[in-house]
Amino acid sequence: MDLHILDHRLRVTSISRGGLQHYTHPLIKLIFLRNRTRCKFFSLTETPENYTVVLDEEGFKDLPPSEHLQVECSTWLPLNVVSNGNASSSSQAVGVTKIAKSVIAPLAEQHVSVFMLSTYQTDFILVREKDLSVVIHTLAEEFNIFQEVDGESVPVHSQDVNNGLQGNGREVPRSTLHPVLIPANQYCVMSLDPDTLPGIATTLIDVLFYSNSPKEDTNVTADLECKFFSFSLIDGYVSLVMDTEAQRQFPADLLFTSSSGELWRMVRIGGHPLGFDECGIVAQISQPLADCDISAYYISTFSFDHALVPEEDIARVTDMLQDQRKGVGC
Ligand code: ARG
Repeated sequence: MDLHILDHRLRVTSISRGGLQHYTHPLIKLIFLRNRTRCKFFSLTETPENYTVVLDEEGFKDLPPSEHLQVECSTWLPLNVVSNGNASSSSQAVGVTKIAKSVIAPLAEQHVSVFMLSTYQTDFILVREKDLSVVIHTLAEEFNIFQEVDGESVPVHSQDVNNGLQGNGREVPRSTLHPVLIPANQYCVMSLDPDTLPGIATTLIDVLFYSNSPKEDTNVTADLECKFFSFSLIDGYVSLVMDTEAQRQFPADLLFTSSSGELWRMVRIGGHPLGFDECGIVAQISQPLADCDISAYYISTFSFDHALVPEEDIARVTDMLQDQRKGVGC
């Protein structure tokens, strides 16, 4: 299998709910006006807490600094696993489940913090640029690693990078078992032809910028409904995650999903904001899912992590999480 280090230098930011109005102008440009921006990696995820924006340095230049914008200080690089067609694994599972054992677990063991972004098309594993040599050393056994430079894939050999494992005596906060929340919403993961983006523009603008009906309490504590809407435009591919209520507002003919058209339930991980330094959070959820061969999309946001699992598996996942809390395992 091949692992690509993509040619994007990413920033992870968040816009406060109240501050969104100050950013509509650059966001509209980044979403709809592809000719006006050199941004190639853009992702916007609305959660009850805030709007997470992950974007490359070109796009980042469009976001004016303000009290409403929080920026994680590191540069992150997206990794992407490409299986070269030899379906050696019997697993039908998709998403983070497929890379749980080969990528997520080894990185967690090396105390590398990741930031996950699953899309309709693929799963991006974001790692800090400064961790790259550790990442390469850790994954070189399992993968042929390529670094994309100006559109070309250059093979990377772990001998070429200085041994990143050495400096790994640094203090790492121990991974704790974070509380989870399972809202009642059903979500769908969809895509559309980027050329038809104008066809959903008014709905997308409505859902993103005007759906902000003030809730009594934005700290969702009850297992009820959870606003979660994610749009990404990465290397020309569009991916959307939304609940069925939002989906009904979109023209039915433009969005498409996988033929099975499955619905997903969400497990939100974290009681208080997770920060960016703790590692092993994704591993803790994706490992048992992989053991049970349950597909999962996984989307990290500025504050929390979100795993999407097939609706029909949510009972099994709930049991699994409960067992994990009791220390039983899957
Ligand atoms: N760094 C975590 C891990 O390695 C995942 C990201 C959690 N943080 C966040 N802000 N969503 O498992």
